[in-house]
Amino acid sequence: MEKISIPSELIRILKSAKNVVALTGAGVSAESGIPTFRDKDGLFTKDNVEDVATPEGFKRNPKLVWEWYSMRREKVKQAHPNPGHIALAKFEEIFPNFTLITQNVDGLHQKAGSRNVIELHGNIMRNKCFANSHPVDVEKLPPSSEIPPRCPVCGSLVRPDVVWFGEFLDPEILSAAEVATRNADVFFTIGTSSEVYPAAGFISLAKESGATVIEINPNETLKSYLADFTFRYPSGKVLPVILDEFTRQKD
Ligand code: OAD
Repeated sequence: MEKISIPSELIRILKSAKNVVALTGAGVSAESGIPTFRDKDGLFTKDNVEDVATPEGFKRNPKLVWEWYSMRREKVKQAHPNPGHIALAKFEEIFPNFTLITQNVDGLHQKAGSRNVIELHGNIMRNKCFANSHPVDVEKLPPSSEIPPRCPVCGSLVRPDVVWFGEFLDPEILSAAEVATRNADVFFTIGTSSEVYPAAGFISLAKESGATVIEINPNETLKSYLADFTFRYPSGKVLPVILDEFTRQKD
């Protein structure tokens, strides 16, 4: 791969930045072996979104949905953070106020050491019941052959604690992400197709609020036109180079 060069203007901007936000999507975890949704081999290229990622799909065929998420959970359990996740965890140490807003449900940012993480779409390792959102620890349920298992409190079916199409995001989480975005001096958008809202709207909000927008994605996206700096490389390759340049150039 050709050498990635980081414009000195970008390093200058990063050096004076106080509030830095990174919005991440499935592309950040691609180099950890977790499939994205809309790429050529993406999950939604193979399976129908309506069947596996909506409340209606779950009502129609809960077993299919539960097994789809079990398959994804197994991949997540085996995955390790890649150099992109690790560089983002280090961003927390170098910027006075760094917020990571992720659409990912795989927990790899936290595994890499990030602490200030806003999980917009939930976490695949958590479960709740369909009817009342009671949190359910499936490891602690008595053995049963029923798939999916049932909530020990109300008997409703158990589902993953992720946000499906047609569902609202947690208002507190949404508001925290909005506040961080409005205050951002620098806003990275990394590994997301920018097709899903409200997440994609944060890129426009950051730009309107005066942030410098940096896109890292091997492919063009619907929000590429908003970027002040663009890196058409995998995030696991670019982010460590940005970090190196930043730490190499002394103030
Ligand atoms: P997508 O699958 O829509 O987009 C993945 C993006 O990652 C694409 O733009 C790719 O070009 C890019 N990409 C692929 N490999 C990459 C790499 N190594 N480095 C950087 N970028 C790379 O995934 P999202 O935008 O995350 O929601 O999808 C948004 C939401 O749609 C997901 O959170 C999920 C889904 O429905 C829920 O589950 C609620």
